[in-house]
Amino acid sequence: MSTVISIASGKGGVGKSSLAVNFSIRLQEIAGSTLLVDSDLLMANAHILMGFRPELSLVDVIEKKCALSDAIQKIPGTVSILPGRSGTSVLVEKDGDPLETLVPQIRSLKESYDYVVMDAAAGAGDGVLNALSHSDHVVIVLLGQATSFVDAYALIKNAYIERRITQFSVVVNMADNKVKAQTLYDNFERTVCGFLPVSLIYTGYIPLRDAIARSSKKCKPIVQAPGEKHLIEHIDTVVHRILAAPLSTSRQTEVVASDCG
Ligand SMILES: Nc1ncnc2c1ncn2[C@@H]1O[C@H](COP(=O)(O)OP(=O)(O)OP(=O)(O)O)[C@@H](O)[C@H]1O
Ligand SMILES: [Mg+2]
Repeated sequence: MSTVISIASGKGGVGKSSLAVNFSIRLQEIAGSTLLVDSDLLMANAHILMGFRPELSLVDVIEKKCALSDAIQKIPGTVSILPGRSGTSVLVEKDGDPLETLVPQIRSLKESYDYVVMDAAAGAGDGVLNALSHSDHVVIVLLGQATSFVDAYALIKNAYIERRITQFSVVVNMADNKVKAQTLYDNFERTVCGFLPVSLIYTGYIPLRDAIARSSKKCKPIVQAPGEKHLIEHIDTVVHRILAAPLSTSRQTEVVASDCG
């Protein structure tokens, strides 16, 4: 069965999609077949960051224009993707949350993947919480900005209160250096664990680099760019630490319940 890893943040624009794309590519190279799912239904862009033009998207599946397996496309030489599309707010409002059953459907596909990486939307709405509650690992992207700190806290609080998720991995993005990233994480952990009965795991940091912003503009993931060994090492650290982390407790309960029939 696939291990599902969601990447979320609360605040928008903190680098979720950028991390999801580069993390997925390295995860497949290090650990096994990987499907990247763009679950940001309003502003899907993971396929753009990979320079890929999909023929079908998750929205076609939701609109029942194609089967789920048809919308999953293999990007030559790298991961498979279930891309999203932009401008689907009407459909989402009309039909409720389409992400509620997506992960179980992906898990029951004939073509199976060792890992499924979900690039979540910003915010802490039902769609995000539904994706997180089906995940084996919930990764929170955190920046050294008050707004990111507060929104990441709010997302964890909602995920705990509404879905009983009690374990989160944290990646500090756009960090000035290792020490500042660790200090930010330590403050965040103290605040979160001081108020909520959840546990956090620090899974590394990605430095602030023009090369990453440029790679988004060029639609070429940084881990595929020549000469970026140092940045690949940061992504690899995150991959290895998440692979070593225990499963989210809400998923453990789900797996045990289904094992018991
Ligand atoms: N470590 C980094 N250093 C420099 N720029 C970065 C870094 N990480 C991400 N960026 C840039 O930040 C911008 C926002 O990144 P991205 O689109 O991945 O964020 P997001 O959290 O997915 O946004 P949204 O909430 O809108 O989905 C992009 O231009 C990206 O290239
Ligand atoms: Mg994004």
